[in-house]
Amino acid sequence: MRKNHLLSIQDLEPASIWRIFNLTDAVIERGEDYRPLSGKTAVLIFKKPSLRTRVSFEVAVNQLGGKSIFLSDPDVGIGIREDIRDVAKVLSSYSDCIITRVFSHNELVLLSEYASVPVINALSDDHHPVQALSDLWTIWKQKGKIVGLNLCFIGDGANNVSGSLILVSSMMGINITIASPRGYEPKKEILSQAREHAKLSGAEIRITRDPKEAVRDAEIIYTDVWTSMGLESESEKRKKVFKGFSINNELLKYAKGDYLIMHCMPIHRDEEIEDGIVSSFRSIIFEQVKNRLLVQKGILVFLLG
Ligand code: CP
Ligand code: NVA
Repeated sequence: MRKNHLLSIQDLEPASIWRIFNLTDAVIERGEDYRPLSGKTAVLIFKKPSLRTRVSFEVAVNQLGGKSIFLSDPDVGIGIREDIRDVAKVLSSYSDCIITRVFSHNELVLLSEYASVPVINALSDDHHPVQALSDLWTIWKQKGKIVGLNLCFIGDGANNVSGSLILVSSMMGINITIASPRGYEPKKEILSQAREHAKLSGAEIRITRDPKEAVRDAEIIYTDVWTSMGLESESEKRKKVFKGFSINNELLKYAKGDYLIMHCMPIHRDEEIEDGIVSSFRSIIFEQVKNRLLVQKGILVFLLG
């Protein structure tokens, strides 16, 4: 761990991910009397909407004995009323942790440079590390192993969820295949970081334009919305470009393995995933949701406990 911040998976290494997972298990085992955040306050500042991340973090902080304060961006006026560097210093003097959802990842980096308390990325345009960590824990609990699994991501390979999944998979030894349309492949910087991880972990990284090829050996089939928050003006164009990248029963005929279906949510039913598949016996989407609360407790104890 380079600094006491969690901005991307790049802030972690395999040992720190295992430490978070062990802390998650310990928090579950110790039950509701375990209150390591007693006397601590976390401030959440969100510039984009959120259901899962906001609520699971607030509940996690409170169940661990701490207090949470939520601020939406207009409450603060980052970049209009307040310089981001001042926001970092002010919140560091009142609170013990800043959990923030932003557009530009660079803004988050700047905030963390001026903050003297841990900063947690609750999603930026490029990364969603708490989602990926929680999903990895879910996969581990479901499959009983991590190394050597085959995961495929179908959809926008350049988005935040895909970026964090590529990094965490390559770091932890999961073979990852990304199937996306031309122009929506993973970002070059993330791919080169992932390739460095893969040299150590032995993971294979494949990029394809063919979802059928991607699902063939997959044990985990993962998708996300075609249009991420902030890109709404591209929504109609993307619906056309991504048409062949939907997880539907036709595509799943090509999946040969004992696969599970994952989605970070929110879901656009019958766009990136056929409605019936969301609640099928293969889907662990609502397990993912539940586990966000558990793993984020592990992350909070790791950074603050
Ligand atoms: N998956 C996820 O981060 O959901 P929210 O946008 O609702 O927080
Ligand atoms: N890629 C999506 C993830 C939402 C949790 C978005 O950024 O909108």
